[in-house]
Amino acid sequence: MSFRLDDKVALVTGASRGIGRAIALAYADAGADVALLARDAELLEQVAVEVRDRGRRALVVAADVLDAAAVAAAVATSVDELGHLDVVVNNAGGNSFSTPLQTMRFAGWAKTQALNVDSVVHVCQSAIPHLTASGGSIINVASVAGLRGAPLMSHYGAAKAAVLSLTQSLALELAYQGVRVNALVPGWIETDLTDFLRSTDEIEKGLLSRVPMGRWGTAQEIAEPAVFLASDAARFMTGQALVVDGGLSAMP
Ligand SMILES: NC(=O)c1ccc[n+]([C@@H]2O[C@H](COP(=O)([O-])OP(=O)(O)OC[C@H]3O[C@@H](n4cnc5c(N)ncnc54)[C@H](OP(=O)(O)O)[C@@H]3O)[C@@H](O)[C@H]2O)c1
Repeated sequence: MSFRLDDKVALVTGASRGIGRAIALAYADAGADVALLARDAELLEQVAVEVRDRGRRALVVAADVLDAAAVAAAVATSVDELGHLDVVVNNAGGNSFSTPLQTMRFAGWAKTQALNVDSVVHVCQSAIPHLTASGGSIINVASVAGLRGAPLMSHYGAAKAAVLSLTQSLALELAYQGVRVNALVPGWIETDLTDFLRSTDEIEKGLLSRVPMGRWGTAQEIAEPAVFLASDAARFMTGQALVVDGGLSAMP
């Protein structure tokens, strides 16, 4: 069985909290060294301590994924310090508002595309030369909101649908160079991002009534499939979307 990541080097974006932090720690548990990217250096340092407590190397590369030059520098530093790059997880992303498209301010639309899509382009363009050298893999964190209609979150749904399309295109461009590209598609996960959905019982009950398993997912439940996608156990898998949503997307 080859579900381990021993001696691989991974770069995880959005590693300071939530799903990204859980992925970074799960990768360390599976034997990888981890470069941790987000804006909040202090929080990243705390995650770095948790990685080192697991016996692995951690490197904090604080950067804004909207800044292509800062991302390029973070990728270069990661390779210089950790030796090589085998796995990139494009996890930084999210959505900070809900509103009908008709009245949405264009700035909000553009900001959401930049955070969720442009960021993936910046990281991939910097990381691909290193991944072709190592025969590595890319994991893009999308969302069930990108699988079908997302009323009041059209900006976020469209951005995550773009991430799914980008995953397939990039998988086809890179397969012959030995680089795999897959998407991980979470359903509703309990993190800071979804705090506002737990603000009233009514909103939360309505939301969970659409989830066949009837509960929030945990960041750890996304992190373990992320280990699988990065591992040799997934070595014949590319251009795919692995949905982890408690059955939500199977609902009619
Ligand atoms: N939670 C869910 O239910 C859910 C469902 C489906 C998909 N997702 C996706 O899963 C991913 C992680 O979500 P989450 O729930 O863990 O969110 P979260 O708790 O809000 O964490 C977001 C992470 O992204 C980082 N980040 C945000 N903007 C950034 C920027 N401009 N540059 C660099 N880093 C940035 C944040 O760190 P800093 O603030 O320190 O920069 C933080 O580490 C996102 O792509 C989200 O769309 C989440």
